[in-house]
Amino acid sequence: MDSIDAAIPATHKALLLNSTRDPYDIAVVQRPTPKAGPGSAVLRVLAVGVLTYAGKVYSGRKPYPYPTPLVPGLTSIGRVSAVGPDATVLKPGQLVFFDCFINGRDSPEARCLSGLSAGMNAASNVLLEGEWRDSTFAEYAKVPLENCHLLNEARLCGSPADGGLGYTIEDLAFLFYISVPFGGLRSVNVQAGEKVIVTPATGAYGSAAVLAALAMGAQVIAMGRDAAKLEKIKAYGPKGRIRTVLNTGDMDADIKELTRDGPADVFFDISPGKAFTSTHFRSCIHSLRLGGRVSMMGVHDGLPMPMMHMLINDITLKPRWMYSVEDMRVMIRLLEAGYLSLRGIRTVGTFPLEQFSQAFDAAAEMAGPCVQVLITP
Ligand SMILES: NC(=O)c1ccc[n+]([C@@H]2O[C@H](COP(=O)([O-])OP(=O)(O)OC[C@H]3O[C@@H](n4cnc5c(N)ncnc54)[C@H](OP(=O)(O)O)[C@@H]3O)[C@@H](O)[C@H]2O)c1
Repeated sequence: MDSIDAAIPATHKALLLNSTRDPYDIAVVQRPTPKAGPGSAVLRVLAVGVLTYAGKVYSGRKPYPYPTPLVPGLTSIGRVSAVGPDATVLKPGQLVFFDCFINGRDSPEARCLSGLSAGMNAASNVLLEGEWRDSTFAEYAKVPLENCHLLNEARLCGSPADGGLGYTIEDLAFLFYISVPFGGLRSVNVQAGEKVIVTPATGAYGSAAVLAALAMGAQVIAMGRDAAKLEKIKAYGPKGRIRTVLNTGDMDADIKELTRDGPADVFFDISPGKAFTSTHFRSCIHSLRLGGRVSMMGVHDGLPMPMMHMLINDITLKPRWMYSVEDMRVMIRLLEAGYLSLRGIRTVGTFPLEQFSQAFDAAAEMAGPCVQVLITP
């Protein structure tokens, strides 16, 4: 095992979710620091994104399948502290993007979200109940080697005078939001120059989708219900690459506006469950060209779809959970090359582990595009 042992304390602080209840049954505890073994790395966790619905998930108000006790957490930016003997390029000291979507090594059916959700089958549960039970709301976390994506720190965080992009660790943490829509947009094969409707474009994942689509070279039509928030999203793209359309609920008027300069190629949705009755699903599908594609990342069981229109117009509907490893590699390549921009990301709160409850509240109250709340253990 290659490690910087001197720097790794024998114990470390972690958040422990003892059971799911409201108010939270969560405590900051001192635990033995994990050791890296074959197939794993131990990270010093630097910044972890907090979901807008984290408080609901960990209090049981939004039931997610996970075992307790559990160290919760999510996708993070961390520094490698130790690696197992089979690490080939990862070394202690390197900066990495830890992707929380853990896949079984012996079965593609086994998939879980570290610190958040077991999967939908027994194989997935094995991952979260066993080896990968403890996630990143902790000073140190043991994670699968293949979920650690090396970041070129000199390029990303170096000064622009030296050819760097000048990002902070907090800026890089926003990749946690970009990663999800990046997977959805790639799953419908978005091409440079294509016209992509993103809605709702004003929320956390939706605004990240706008950045992801721009990085892929698309023209973006950002749709949402709030004109003031939509106006803000325009500032995230070069002039003329983002057009905004208000979701008024008047389908005919909305379709007319969406197709003002011709039909779109792709419609990307990542709306919350409460948007179930919104007219945007229909108005956006009706605004696609023949052969258009829909990437559905919002979760809406039983959503009525304009099937006749989709059939006649040969529309592809592609629901997607998360992303592939290759998607993450491409996302980081585009970031390091400067095509994916994290300029203007607003971190509206950074909280230590002890203030997890304030962090969950702050994330639930975030409003507007490209904002995030972080836990910095
Ligand atoms: N498929 C996946 O892998 C995956 C992964 C992660 C998350 N998700 C999904 O992503 C969803 C969004 O999460 P988030 O953190 O981005 O939430 P968020 O920041 O709270 O954003 C919610 C967005 O939805 C809009 N909205 C709310 N109610 C609406 C309604 N009735 N009609 C139309 N739009 C409405 C809001 O618009 P206003 O600004 O106008 O209020 C806002 O833009 C989650 O619910 C989750 O299910 C999917």
